[in-house]
Amino acid sequence: MSNQVQTAEGISARFICTANHGFAPYAQEELRRMFGAVKSTMLVSGEVFLATLPTSQGDAADLLQQTPPIFLRHLFPVHFEVNTEQQDIAFDQLFRFLLNHSALQEGSFSLQVRKTERSNFEGTSGVFKQHILSGIELLPAEHVIQDADLIVSVYLTEERLYAGVSRAEDNLSDWNGGAVRFQKEEGQISRAKFKLLEAEKTLDIPFSSFHRAVDIGAAPGGWTSFLLDRGLEVTAVDPAKMNPVLLNHPKLKYVSKNAGDVKFKENEFDLLVCDMSWSPKLMARLVTDLLYSLRSGGTAVVTVKLMHKKPMALIKEVTSVFEDSRMQIQRAKQLFHNRDEITLYMIKY
Ligand SMILES: C[S@@+](CC[C@H](N)C(=O)[O-])C[C@H]1O[C@@H](n2cnc3c(N)ncnc32)[C@H](O)[C@@H]1O
Repeated sequence: MSNQVQTAEGISARFICTANHGFAPYAQEELRRMFGAVKSTMLVSGEVFLATLPTSQGDAADLLQQTPPIFLRHLFPVHFEVNTEQQDIAFDQLFRFLLNHSALQEGSFSLQVRKTERSNFEGTSGVFKQHILSGIELLPAEHVIQDADLIVSVYLTEERLYAGVSRAEDNLSDWNGGAVRFQKEEGQISRAKFKLLEAEKTLDIPFSSFHRAVDIGAAPGGWTSFLLDRGLEVTAVDPAKMNPVLLNHPKLKYVSKNAGDVKFKENEFDLLVCDMSWSPKLMARLVTDLLYSLRSGGTAVVTVKLMHKKPMALIKEVTSVFEDSRMQIQRAKQLFHNRDEITLYMIKY
């Protein structure tokens, strides 16, 4: 299942890489820092690019798992590529490639199809998915929606069709393109809640195992409602108004103040979360001033707004402020639900 190519310049492997809109240049920079000379071609401006890494597919997957990137949200290896001038021929070739693929002769697979907006292929990704599934129905491997042994990824652009077969963990995410979708609940207080839901799933943060949380910059209360749903007692700090439906919750204490003006007991909390739309350096100072209230072993989850043009330098600066305050960074990641920000997951030692 290798897409490794041995040329006069050495081994290389190609991947379709995806980042949040506008952040592909930083994902490219991460790959350059990790792998050295990386050739890349943008397929969707600021978002999707084709990268050639000077390494084998397996080594790339190992390194990406050891040093998870912040901005690179998803990738899949390119094992098959065809020009799409004649779409029927392109699909026939794709079917033949998949039907003959040695790794698809047993077990299970999921099919993930994406297309660029300007792709010559008319129809939705869903239509193409059905078309491909009918073309490969004789495949011995079983098509499943979840927990597949392998992911078959297909990407359609204006001129080309790319496909690859890989394990979900080697793609950095088991969601199509790393786009983590949740259903909006009825009466959901804010879309911000999706950030914690996604952090719980993709960063494996065991929110239900905590007891007492402080939520800094909590209004209107999406994060607070998520934590209350997980059974925690929550102290919500914000001078702005919380959604009234939360206010009578028996496990909520609402402090209508600026976070710079609050005082807590030492080690009062085992979870601190902060989602303030504020200058990241001021946020870091404000949060570190409150860390006395987080017991050692406690967890902190904060969003860092990327306000200026050098996110890598900014992230380094903010993480070192936290590291100087006994916080060990578990993960820094731009989640699908983060806009111009990243999420930091830390544990106090
Ligand atoms: C993006 S909203 C938070 C959304 C929230 N996480 C949710 O899920 O509903 C940012 C909040 O930070 C609050 N904020 C900004 N500066 C603050 C400060 N110094 N102290 C407390 N809250 C602050 C704002 O009032 C605003 O309500």
